[in-house]
Amino acid sequence: MSFDSLWADLAGIGRDGRRGGFSRHGFDDAELTMREWFVEQAGRRGLGVHADRNGNLWAWWGSPGPGAVVTGSHLDSVPGGGAFDGPLGVVSGLLAVDELRARGFRPARPIAVVVFAEEEGGRFGVPCLGSRLLTGAVDPATALALRDPDGVSLADALRRAGLAHGDVGADPSAVAHVGAFVELHVEQGRGLVDLGAPVGLASSILAHGRWRLTFSGEGNHAGSTGIADRSDPMLPASQAVLAARRAASTVDGARATVGRIVPNPGGTNVIASTVDVWLDARAPSTSDTRAVVDEIVRAGRQAAADEGCELVVREESYTGTVVFDSVLRDELAAALGGVPALPTGAGHDAGILAGQVPAAMLFVRNPTGVSHAPAEHAERDDCLAGVAALTTVLEHLAS
Ligand code: GLV
Ligand code: MN
Ligand code: MN
Repeated sequence: MSFDSLWADLAGIGRDGRRGGFSRHGFDDAELTMREWFVEQAGRRGLGVHADRNGNLWAWWGSPGPGAVVTGSHLDSVPGGGAFDGPLGVVSGLLAVDELRARGFRPARPIAVVVFAEEEGGRFGVPCLGSRLLTGAVDPATALALRDPDGVSLADALRRAGLAHGDVGADPSAVAHVGAFVELHVEQGRGLVDLGAPVGLASSILAHGRWRLTFSGEGNHAGSTGIADRSDPMLPASQAVLAARRAASTVDGARATVGRIVPNPGGTNVIASTVDVWLDARAPSTSDTRAVVDEIVRAGRQAAADEGCELVVREESYTGTVVFDSVLRDELAAALGGVPALPTGAGHDAGILAGQVPAAMLFVRNPTGVSHAPAEHAERDDCLAGVAALTTVLEHLAS
């Protein structure tokens, strides 16, 4: 099976006619269709496929067991996302298996292609939810109670998808089977463009987290309420947005983003009673990340007090700085004849697994660097170079 035919299979699934790009969120119709496609592809290859108790899919070449060489990524997207973030790693994993078989390679250890659930957190708010549950990085009861914007809980979504297979949560024996995890991903930046290289390895991931800032005021009439009589939570919410840019600009390498803001009830002629602001903040260290968030919260609280409003802050997820295993990275760079290593600001399941197993990432050049948007792209030749690199890596690790 060629790259083109696998890529064409996915091109029509979860297209978002309103936002552009693709909207495929954990266990929704589009993501379930993507999973069905994966199960079917695994079946065609005679791989033993199963869903674990956290909703992740595993396709095994050989029996699951210790020392396994695991690759894969995710099939969900951000709202209106690009085609490559996630699916490129899954497609490349299947093609690398095809290529190894075509060469007559006999793995000395099992090889698996995995699809992690809800990597973007686009539905339930917590990114890398499947890998966090698997590794015990999130409390299962808390996770099961997470609700999507329509009020559907993760527990219900798993049930409806027929994926409630047992106790959700840490699965140390499954993790213990992973001898190494290598995730291939489109680069989310222009590092490889600047280096003139089609493929590279990841060196580190910024510390990053998500915080929900709920500003409460007094819902009222937009026409009959005098300016002096208002407690409008949209004002401190706006100040928090401005503070995010200001605070991140003062810390080297930091980023802070408000990409989602929801006024309640959300009417043009209604002063909101509450406004939820989701803050995504990242920086090279935990202390820098916390300092940026603290400053945004301080500014938000001050603005809330000035407007007679209140602010409640909840941390929805957090991941410290990830430095990928340098021994594995150097080994893979050598196997690939020398490829560059570069840092990233994007989170990945490989970053979650890196705390428990040797993990690495292969990046494929992205000509514009744009990601989490419909313009995200990788040239076909670079995708093929990525498959070739992943094939080499799997062969090296499973020999
Ligand atoms: C995942 O793509 C992230 O938000 O870093
Ligand atoms: Mn992403
Ligand atoms: Mn991704």
